[in-house]
Amino acid sequence: MGTLIKGGKVVSAAATTVADVLIEGETIARVAPAIDEAGHAVVDAKGMFVLPGGIDVHTHLDMPFGGTVSADDYEWGTRAAAIGGTTTVIDFALQSMGHPMMEAFKTWRAKAEGKACIDYALHMAVTDLGPNDVWLDDVDAMVAEGISSFKIFMAYPNVLMVNDATIFKLMQRTAKLGALVCVHAENGTVIDVVVQQALAAGNTGPLYHALTRPVLAEAEAVHRVVAISEMADRARVYIVHVSCEESMREVAAARAHGLPVMGETCTQYLVLSLEDNMGKPGFEDAKVVFTPPLREKKNQAPLWQALKDNVLQVVSTDHCPFRFADQKTLGLGNFTKIPNGGPGIENRMQLAYHHGVNAGRISLERFVEVTAEAPAKIFGMNPRKGIVAAGSDADLVLWDPQAKYTITAATQSMHTDYSIFEDFEVKGNARQVFSRGESVVEGGRFIGAVGRGRYLHREVAKR
Ligand code: URP
Ligand code: ZN
Ligand code: ZN
Repeated sequence: MGTLIKGGKVVSAAATTVADVLIEGETIARVAPAIDEAGHAVVDAKGMFVLPGGIDVHTHLDMPFGGTVSADDYEWGTRAAAIGGTTTVIDFALQSMGHPMMEAFKTWRAKAEGKACIDYALHMAVTDLGPNDVWLDDVDAMVAEGISSFKIFMAYPNVLMVNDATIFKLMQRTAKLGALVCVHAENGTVIDVVVQQALAAGNTGPLYHALTRPVLAEAEAVHRVVAISEMADRARVYIVHVSCEESMREVAAARAHGLPVMGETCTQYLVLSLEDNMGKPGFEDAKVVFTPPLREKKNQAPLWQALKDNVLQVVSTDHCPFRFADQKTLGLGNFTKIPNGGPGIENRMQLAYHHGVNAGRISLERFVEVTAEAPAKIFGMNPRKGIVAAGSDADLVLWDPQAKYTITAATQSMHTDYSIFEDFEVKGNARQVFSRGESVVEGGRFIGAVGRGRYLHREVAKR
């Protein structure tokens, strides 16, 4: 006996079709116009879209950062993800300077063990190639463990930032392997000077986090890393959290030049702005201190257009939550001490759907592509994830396009005492969510077992 999802509209990047979906065990057995109900448990999906479970490729769960640890661990972060219609996350394991990558891999697997509520994978954030670059070989070892993407930071000097030589060497290795390098692109050393000048001038409030990180510092880093990747045998590159038109144009230029350069933006840059969401009295702006910072509103339309035109391929969240009361306040009197990051894993699908599809900025099919199908393909999980097709994991979302929902911290599952999208009204929400065939979310509540999520072994690209 299987579970038959009957009469919904199945959506992929290519088309929307009325079809039944038969789940047997953990996978999709059939997708066809009219599957016989006999012997199956039937789920009526009339009026619903049947979407592939969302994939959020940029999260920071249980991550030590800014003198504290991000507020959602694997249990709470993945529970919130599932409630919002996301059934896979790719989180970051952070290599500690002076330590091999394998240590970070084991540490992050242990963080997820017994806690992850949905399937998860890991990127390896590389901070140190070791004495005589001995840990470059760790890159191969990580690929063997199913880590097909690496992350480098061009910002956060003395914490996570790596220099151009490290980037170049890493990319020479990933180019050979077909692995991907994800890049936090910002000129960290220039920003540091601007930051010190602001503090010296007495500008210590949270707004100055945004004002000391110019868009050109982001665009310059994108330009530089693209050039480095071209020199490094045209290594595959993915620019994370593109926040402004200037950086997006660098990605567009690289792609027009035929380079394997891809990019994402995040929900916060698509719907929030410097004008609308900063400049509040007191310390309130600390709630939206993340990096890159909120940009001027004029950037939103070009980012949406870039998603539509496939200049950018993915919408992620960069979910890195910190509570306001006892974590963000570490930066009272000095904005550089505010832990950088914001909560969003729960709201990605709602916001991308409402402000994308309902607003006519992207099609329903493109919504599915940027939230599930393209992430699976880019990050080596296709066809197991990201698509409603026979043989794929039965990660499915019954999406109710008529459901109205008001985002508020009072009802969210994320463990922050505020929402950066407080009072945002959306139409379109997950009604039921399946993860590997199991109904894990019904009526906005997670009903699966904690710890049921599995580690995903990902593939590198064929070169
Ligand atoms: O502010 C942010 N984005 N915090 C998480 C670390 C990063 O840069 O992605
Ligand atoms: Zn970043
Ligand atoms: Zn991040």
